[in-house]
Amino acid sequence: MVECGQPVRHSQMKIAFVTAEHALFVKVGGLADVAASLPPQFAAAGHAVRVYVPYYAQVASNLHLAWDTKHFVTVRAAGRVFHVGLFHHVTSAGVDVYLMRYDELFGRGGVYGEGNRGYEDNLLRFAVFQQAVVEHFAVDEWFPDILHFHDWHTALLPAYCAARGELDRRYGAIKQVFTIHNLGYQGVFDPSQYWVLNLPGHFYHQDWVEHFGAINCMKCALMQAHYLTTVSPTYAKEIQTPALGFGFDGILRARQHELKGILNGIDTEVWDPATDVYLPAHYTAVNATGKARCKQVLLKAMGLHTRPGLPLCGVVARLTEQKGIDLIIAIMDEIVRAGARVVMLGSGEQWMEEALRGCAARHPGNVAVRIGFDERLAHLIEAGADIFLMPSRFEPCGLNQMYSMRYGTLPVVHRTGGLADTVVDANDETLRLGTATGFVIDEPTTRALLEKIQFALALYEDRATWRRMRRAAMQTDFSWEKSARGYLQVFEQLVQR
Ligand code: ADP
Ligand code: GLC
Repeated sequence: MVECGQPVRHSQMKIAFVTAEHALFVKVGGLADVAASLPPQFAAAGHAVRVYVPYYAQVASNLHLAWDTKHFVTVRAAGRVFHVGLFHHVTSAGVDVYLMRYDELFGRGGVYGEGNRGYEDNLLRFAVFQQAVVEHFAVDEWFPDILHFHDWHTALLPAYCAARGELDRRYGAIKQVFTIHNLGYQGVFDPSQYWVLNLPGHFYHQDWVEHFGAINCMKCALMQAHYLTTVSPTYAKEIQTPALGFGFDGILRARQHELKGILNGIDTEVWDPATDVYLPAHYTAVNATGKARCKQVLLKAMGLHTRPGLPLCGVVARLTEQKGIDLIIAIMDEIVRAGARVVMLGSGEQWMEEALRGCAARHPGNVAVRIGFDERLAHLIEAGADIFLMPSRFEPCGLNQMYSMRYGTLPVVHRTGGLADTVVDANDETLRLGTATGFVIDEPTTRALLEKIQFALALYEDRATWRRMRRAAMQTDFSWEKSARGYLQVFEQLVQR
């Protein structure tokens, strides 16, 4: 019986959000940020949300973050039995996070690998994680209405639910929504490893995990999830083309009516120049004087010339071809010659790390490079730079261009994926209308990039125009509410089916 006066939510859904990263505990890229900020939106809309993530060594070093439930979930993989420990954390937004602990697999220095090499047993690691999640639904008798899972590390969940569903029909009722954050990473393994998965032989089939004679984890989700989403409308279209479909464009075209691009938001509390705990000074769209102080602190910290008035370009990225870092390396000398300084933070491909160190050595005082992962410096670069370089060859969504706009650091981007959906190119019309928020190149080439940077540097001298653009960029609404509504609409339609 419902007590008088209590609101009744007929539409409350149980949502399980399964991810390999979560910014509270461990972060490699934007997936971690999404996992930390999207589930609270579902909870705020009145739904019951559980997040599942592996318990990495980084969690163990922040023990206060999670408490040991003393419960275990038992699964099999690679002919072995794994008793996976269950840790629990309740976020400040009231979201339950379950961390699956098995130190031999996850208590390591890296998340997916170390020193640019993936762990050899990644298939086993994520097979154990995914099975533990599926098993936990039964152990806890908490079966979600919606299983929302992300990228290849969780993409075998449909197979595990189907296999488990042969014994327990409750698995069959779960609606599965798979979000593609990056089609470039598919989780491809030699078929000789199939036995590791603990899946019946018939799942090694082209409708499930087999793809051109190999195990392809991503394929399982693309074929079997009830609905597919990706993280921007433009990327949703691009992945249906041979150029950016990474071999899956045919499957994605066939499923185009069950595929939707929902633009990521950003956490506007963590990424707020008015309150950011990592910044030496604060500022707003209306009063941006604190930004100049951030720039001075950044220049000093990175050993760059501190003469005011010179523009500063910033980069924070995984150092990969995807991000177009090689384009920046190729034109570094010209950027410096054009009068800009450059500060870069990132880690990734070794040749890029070395080439960037070389750039810094060639241009002391004008180019500074920090190799590694540094949350504080990432925030300081977003705040202290004037221009943010992000010429990605493809970009499913991209968060950094949104962070930089919010921090009044105008981005130079390539018209692709989420970059195309978030940055308004400065041209005669948008400058006149006051809607310009950055600079967009049509092709990811060194020439286009250099010309655009030169254009941006010239505009930087026009202080009034620059301030106007900066204000427009800072006032753009990138909050999560709209995106969350997009997901919830998909979820509700599936549940009502
Ligand atoms: P991707 O997920 O493809 O790497 P995104 O732009 O979506 O790209 O997200 C990258 C996230 O990771 C951002 O929050 C960015 O600030 C952060 N990041 C990337 N490299 C570093 C680094 N070296 N140090 C600190 N933060 C980083
Ligand atoms: C991936 C994509 C990036 C996106 C992020 C979060 O890492 O490369 O474009 O912003 O996921 O969805």
